[in-house]
Amino acid sequence: MNKLFVSLACALSLGYLATAAPMKTTLASYNQGINIIPQPKELVQGKGSFALTAKTPLLAQGDSAYIIARFFAEKLQRSTGYQLPVRSSSSAQPGAIYLRIDPSLQLGHEGYQLKSSPRGVEVVGRTGAGLYYGMQTLLQLLPAEVESPSLVKMARWNIPAVTIEDEPRFEYRGALVDVCRHFLTVEDMKQHIDLLSMFKINRLHWHLTEDQGWRIEIKKYPRLTSVGSKRIEGDGKEYGGYYTQEQIKEIVKYASDRFVTIVPEVELPGHAMGAIASYPELTCFPYRRVYQVRNIWGVEQDVFCAGKESTFQFIQDVLDEVVPLFPGQYFHIGGDECPKIRWKECPNCQKRIKDEGLKDEHELQSYVIRRAEKMLAKYGKKLIGWDEILEGGLAPTATVMSWQGEKGGIQAANMGHDVIMTPGSGGLYIDHYQGDSKIEPVAICCYSTLEKVYSYNPIPEAIAPDKRHHIKGAQANLWAEYLYTTPLMQYRAFPREIALAEAVWTPLEKKNYKDFERRLDNAYVRLDQHKVNYHIPLPEQPLPGSRQSASLNYVAFTDTTSLTLQTTRPIRIVYTTDGSEPTAKSQTYTQPLHISKSQVVKVASVLPSGKLSRVRAITFDKQSLSPAVELATPTPGLRTKTSVGNYYSAADFASATNWTEGVVKTTQELRPDRLNNHMDEIKRKAVVGEGYIKIPADGSYVFSTNLDQMYLDGELFIDNSGETSKFSRHDKSRALKAGWHRVKFVFVGAVRGGFPTYWEDTKVEYRKLEDAKFSTVTAEMLAY
Ligand code: ACM
Ligand code: ZN
Repeated sequence: MNKLFVSLACALSLGYLATAAPMKTTLASYNQGINIIPQPKELVQGKGSFALTAKTPLLAQGDSAYIIARFFAEKLQRSTGYQLPVRSSSSAQPGAIYLRIDPSLQLGHEGYQLKSSPRGVEVVGRTGAGLYYGMQTLLQLLPAEVESPSLVKMARWNIPAVTIEDEPRFEYRGALVDVCRHFLTVEDMKQHIDLLSMFKINRLHWHLTEDQGWRIEIKKYPRLTSVGSKRIEGDGKEYGGYYTQEQIKEIVKYASDRFVTIVPEVELPGHAMGAIASYPELTCFPYRRVYQVRNIWGVEQDVFCAGKESTFQFIQDVLDEVVPLFPGQYFHIGGDECPKIRWKECPNCQKRIKDEGLKDEHELQSYVIRRAEKMLAKYGKKLIGWDEILEGGLAPTATVMSWQGEKGGIQAANMGHDVIMTPGSGGLYIDHYQGDSKIEPVAICCYSTLEKVYSYNPIPEAIAPDKRHHIKGAQANLWAEYLYTTPLMQYRAFPREIALAEAVWTPLEKKNYKDFERRLDNAYVRLDQHKVNYHIPLPEQPLPGSRQSASLNYVAFTDTTSLTLQTTRPIRIVYTTDGSEPTAKSQTYTQPLHISKSQVVKVASVLPSGKLSRVRAITFDKQSLSPAVELATPTPGLRTKTSVGNYYSAADFASATNWTEGVVKTTQELRPDRLNNHMDEIKRKAVVGEGYIKIPADGSYVFSTNLDQMYLDGELFIDNSGETSKFSRHDKSRALKAGWHRVKFVFVGAVRGGFPTYWEDTKVEYRKLEDAKFSTVTAEMLAY
């Protein structure tokens, strides 16, 4: 055979070509095998495959099936270019894809059967939702490129022969989006809904009101959006956004067409500063201070006044406008994190407690929730609240969303209440880190790997067997404090929302994380077609002799050193040492690299599709030990100078003249008191501490700090200027001789990215390059 013929024969037998020209013969590994996510309940693979062609008809039995057939024909047309005929039919036909709804199917409400063979395909849903999910499964049997919004040339669009019987393990399969901290446009929302529905997630919890912004138009209270939707950020810029009621309807309809029900959340009685800034009379002490939409994260202490009847009128009015916009059964009223400090001193709240015979403020919280429950009941809605609604007695019909671990959920289920599990401790707070905090974008606190989300089982052992049916499902929460942009929001959401999808759909005994990772390689390519900025594990540097990462982009060494890399999920690492950008074809990392000269090593992870992660440039700098200085009479501490001014970063106070002088013992004291909670407590100032640090022994030292700047031996060494002051992401090392070295530290008191620098510890940490642990620079190590 000549070469060309071999290539063609090979390509045809493999089923399709990745692109039309030039003819590729290699089968993309990510399209091999069956890659359905979530893994179906029962799947048996048959022989051969069904070839989708431009002539394949979609036959639908009944109007509902016809609408779904049209939906998928349109979708298939975009990538395949085929104008598939859609026709009504009361029977299957050879060579066709036949869609029907059969209410007598012995499967759950959202169940479906899918049978494909070389002769044809039949998809039967118990309901419209079931049929829709069957068709999503059908799409996942096709090459991943089927998700492309534009024409892709494939040699063949093949559907492997399978018999599938499928239904979800849980009826509530949820994802929360927090549009209060980071606003999502109508288009962003639609894209997210598309992605969720691909993986059979059927609830979108839409967090619409907050201390940091009110995001839904209420016609009776225009200030909720003209005032409450806007905040002035720490850098002085206005941040805002809200949905008109028409836009809400548009999004609800869009979701409903994709079998996603939106669960709106209007927060009460806490997390209400968006409303209070608009109408201060809603709070206990309207005249006590100026109320502004919060530009710092955290929980506001001023909440809705539970004493004044006018507050309840407001809630009723808001619900009267919001409830009719959302056809779903559930309505979320928040109920979490409501400080009681104002209620304790408010005469109206205290009178309410007395008049209603309530024991305390916790029962007052319960009173508010019960009144909301009654308001919602008139509309036939079921109230959901965060687990704090257990405080002071659970409202009779409430469903509890368990977020502070599973405790509240277990308690509520054992009391006979419905529960949705969303514990941060179970990995379901997907605003947490999924990789090394020293190189990942700043996140809120903790660590939630893909495997942790995947492994979550919503039914804890502690729930009595006869109460387990109260667990309606689980939800991943994408809080948005540190999701400053939509691409960053996607980076946190994906692939973890896909792992959640399988955790709530697939029977426990069919879950298999290793196989999920394999199928994910295909799902990534689907996400690529939607231009989703999903997380790809970065190459990380472990601490010496440890599995814990503490990545370092600047490594000073004296003789030789090495570079060890690891990733949080199995993935190929590529690298270059000549300064060029790595590509999928670059050298594969297999073992630690020996480093003996100054050089930049660029590293990236690469997916089977050839897509690269962000590239990390790691600078290796061969140094001689920087000499120490003699201090004749070292005095403990650092000399400081402080300037009060409207500063945002270190560059802003170059010409300041209002300095006052002082001394501190530690770098922690460079940050004045840890201010608490209120925006008006934040004092704009700069504090500079200068002196010397005592290095215990010759060697290369890594330093880490959240201070704005650290100078070492007269050079700007660590520069966090203008960044959110959490989880130092500019660690750096330097070769130092034992003894005193000149240092300068800069603290800027400001709010950056919603985070006041006053909330962070301003310690400085260090370790020798070869050590596995950081230590904190102590008072004994500082002098001037
Ligand atoms: C929550 O995270 N406060 C529900
Ligand atoms: Zn009050």
